[in-house]
Parts: sequence; structure tokens; C-alpha cells
Amino acid sequence: MPRHKSEDDITAEVLERFAQTPQPRLREIMLSLIRHLHAFVKEVNLTEAEWFQAIAILTETGRLWCSDKRQEFILFSDTLGVSMVVDLLNHRKPEGATESTVFGPFHRLGAPEMPAGGNIADRDTTGVPTLVGGRVLDLDGRPIAGALLDVWQAQSNGLYDSQDAQVEGMHMRGRFRTDAEGRYLVRTVRPVHYPIPADGPVGRMLRATGRHPWRPAHIHFVVSAEGYEPVTTHIFDRADDYLNSDAVFAVKESLICDFVRHDAADDAEAARLGIAPPFYTVRFDFRLKKAAKAGASVLEAQQRLAALGTQAAQ
Ligand code: BEZ
Ligand code: FE
Repeated sequence: MPRHKSEDDITAEVLERFAQTPQPRLREIMLSLIRHLHAFVKEVNLTEAEWFQAIAILTETGRLWCSDKRQEFILFSDTLGVSMVVDLLNHRKPEGATESTVFGPFHRLGAPEMPAGGNIADRDTTGVPTLVGGRVLDLDGRPIAGALLDVWQAQSNGLYDSQDAQVEGMHMRGRFRTDAEGRYLVRTVRPVHYPIPADGPVGRMLRATGRHPWRPAHIHFVVSAEGYEPVTTHIFDRADDYLNSDAVFAVKESLICDFVRHDAADDAEAARLGIAPPFYTVRFDFRLKKAAKAGASVLEAQQRLAALGTQAAQ
């Protein structure tokens, strides 16, 4: 007599075996994983050819598309929406706190420190000059002095510095500190929409499923301050065509900003920095929540960045 009468008998036996897992959290995860994985295989009636194709894709992804320069599994997580679900589950914010969004693979540690108004786009000759400024505040609206803003952005050709063979060293990156009133000011160019890397298995998945690889125009920030929870986020351009179909599902309403066009020399800060029209200004205030453990936040932010830094740019 066969030990297993049906596919459900197999699921039941696998669950029984994993039920012995001593560590409670690991037990919870493994039992749920088995339940969902088996249910998925049964629901789609997976063929042997499809099962083998899945194994081949995972093998190729690990062998050819994961290195210190490329992390295709994270790109899969991003494009399947898993990264944003994990982000939401782990960074629930109180009302008024700046919301987080995906970190992405293009952050680099050690961006140059810049004074207020420093230009991160000094080698970008085609973009329209843009001043992004505002304040870093606590949840009661009090300014946070000395907060650190780690900023990065794609060039106006749609490439990050590390993707562009023409660019040496770091470009479109900088670290800024707020002044005594919590103010920051970043000089850059207006961001553009750009496609995520689509030359590997993720690109094949997007094409096969009729999806596009575009991300709406954005600027990345990690904002941290002693005694506050750091926030990893972007600001998005309200005028962008891809706001409703971001390839990695990272747009949140509260992060969408107006890029205000100036065709006359009518902005004091732009005049002081010698920026001639046309240019754009954007105002965005970051609001940070107090850290549960006082004093731990900057260190945590640095550790998080260092750990994710292994995704390095592609
Ligand atoms: C980015 O915005 O840099 C990004 C985020 C997720 C996947 C690919 C790129
Ligand atoms: Fe980006």
C-alpha cells in the first residue's frame, strides 16, 4: 500500500516533519512556507517542464546575475512587490512621519560631504538645474539640527554613475547636514524616469508578462539624526508619467512633490548660487520619529547602509 494516497497527504507529512523545528520563529516560517508553496504548486497544476524551468532560472540568477555589482534576487523581490510589502510591515510610521520606500541597488557608501547648496550634478550638462530644500523636523514640528541627508540620483541620461562607463568616481551623490533651524539645500538637476536593469532574468520576466521596466523620476534620501529612527525614502516628481506604474511599486502619495519651474530670476537662493533660469525648485520637509533606543539611530542607519551596500551599483 503506498504511504501517500494523494498530494495532500504529502503536504500533511511535510508539515508534520517541520512541526518538530525547535526554534519557534523558524517553525512558524517553515510551516507557512510549506503550506503556501504546496498550495501554489497544486493551484497552478505545475508541470514537470515548468518546475524544471523555474530551477533553471534560479540557477542562472545565482550563477550569472549575482555579484558585488549586481543582485538580481533583490531585483526580483522589488519587481514582485515583495520588497515594498516587507518595507511596509517593518516601517509602520506614526501619522506625520516621513514614509519609507525601497532602498534600491544604487546607493554607494562614502558620498562626498557637501555644504548647503552643494551641487551633486556638477558634471551633468543636459539636465535642468533644480534646488531641493526644506527642513528636517521631529513629529512636533521642531527642527532637527545636524541631521544627515545621504542623497543619490540618476543622471539626466537615465544612468547612475556606476552604470555609466563615461563617468569616473562618484557623481550625483552627496551627504548634507541640516543647519541650526533644521534646513537643508541640495543643488541637482531635475530627475528623469529610467528603466531598471532589464538585461537579465528580471527583464525577461517583465517582457514575458507585458510589464515595463520604468521607474518614475525620483531622488533617493537616507535621513538620519541622533536619537531618531532613520528613514530610507525618495521624493517623486508629480509630473512623471510612470507614477502609477512604477516597476518596483515604491510610490507613496506623501512622497510626491511639485517641481516648480522658474523662467525668471525670482528665487533668492538660486540667485545666491548663481543659477540662471530656467530652473526648478522643490520643497520637502522630512519628519523623523524618535528612536526607541536613544542614540542608536545613526549607527543603525550606517549598519543598514553597509549591509545593503553589498548590493552595490550595477
Ligand atoms: C532605484 O531606484 O534605484 C531602484 C530601485 C529598485 C530596483 C532598481 C532600481
Ligand atoms: Fe533610483
